[in-house]
This record gives sequence, structure tokens and C-alpha cells, in this order.
Amino acid sequence: MDNVLQKIEQFKIVPVVTIQRIEDAEGMLGALCRGGLPVAEICFRTDCAEEAIRLAAKKFPQMLIGAGTVIGGEQCTRALAAGAKFIVSPGLSEEAGFLCMQRRALYLPGAVTPSEIIKAISLGLTCLKFFPAESFGGLKTIKSLSAAFPQVRFMPTGGVSLENVNEYLSFPKIFACGGSWMMKGNAKEIEEKTTRAVHFLEKRT
Ligand code: 3PG
Repeated sequence: MDNVLQKIEQFKIVPVVTIQRIEDAEGMLGALCRGGLPVAEICFRTDCAEEAIRLAAKKFPQMLIGAGTVIGGEQCTRALAAGAKFIVSPGLSEEAGFLCMQRRALYLPGAVTPSEIIKAISLGLTCLKFFPAESFGGLKTIKSLSAAFPQVRFMPTGGVSLENVNEYLSFPKIFACGGSWMMKGNAKEIEEKTTRAVHFLEKRT
């Protein structure tokens, strides 16, 4: 679990990947790898999400594959069985949280208000997705929340792009940013945008 979190911290950017057709999965994931970012949060928003996670685990063993938009225990069980190494939710699913705890999988629930954060802490969860980040006040809100909850770290997602990712990542309580900006277009375009993101990260370190 800690190992997975460490890898996410190293990647710094977690591509949020929505796969509409299973035929597209290999091209999209291959483009991320060629671009230098072998990590993906595959969203449980489409019918083929589970199959895409299974395919990714099999064909891209070098990738760190997680499941996103997981809203309950059933999806969480399916995602873990398919090979997901971490689970992300837009909010907090207690079912998913307990399942991940049992299976020692990393769970990153969404939380944007003090009450939601208190709930997450009470379940032992201190690495949280802050979603949708820009709509909920972005870095300004994260800074205010961090003052009250020093034990918590955030992964802002939603409205993050190459224009604002540096600002987010410069704040020490942010361990990574999620985003789908590099996933627009065909495989070539995904690869180019990913390469640009990776170069950008290299420049800032
Ligand atoms: C998510 O579910 O995490 C978001 O759809 C990603 O947000 P973005 O598309 O604004 O990057």
C-alpha cells in the first residue's frame, strides 16, 4: 500500500482515463507509457472499465493501474479483482474504504469539506482526493483546509492542467495531481501531451 502511494508521489501526475471502447484501451495506455507516465486511474464510468483494468494489468505490467470513480463496495471488489492497485472515489465510500483496508490496497477517497475530511480521518484515511478541485476553490481552499488538518495530504483533481499543475504541486500538502488533460485526442496526441507533462515535471525538479 505504502509502495503504491510512493509511486504516485513520484509520478506526481495521475492521468484520469475514461475508456469508452475497449478497443481503444491499448492505444491510450500505450501512449501514456511512451510519453513517460506509466500510471492511470481508469474510471468506472463506462461499461468496459473493469475489462480495461484487466487488460491493463495483463498487457502493461510496468504500469501502475488504479480504478477511479469507484462509488461502492461492488465496484471496488470488481476493480481489485481485475488488478487495480489503488482505488479512487469522487467522495467517500465507507464500503470501498473497508474493502481496501481488508485487502491492504490504497484507497484515496474524495473530500472537500471539513466534515468530509473528519469522516475520512476517523476511518484512518489521510491521503484524499480533492475533487472537483477548481470548482471547490482550488489551492486557496486546500491551504485553508491544511491549516486545520495538518495530518492530511491532497490529490487535487478536476480542472487541473499544465497551466496550474505547478502551482498545486508546489504546496507541500499536495502529493500528486489527477487530471485528464493529456487524454484528449488520438494516441499520438496523448503521447505528445504526456511527454510535455513529463518534461514539465523534470524542469521543475
Ligand atoms: C475526475 O473524475 O477525476 C475528473 O473528471 C478529472 O477532471 P478533469 O477532466 O478536469 O481533469
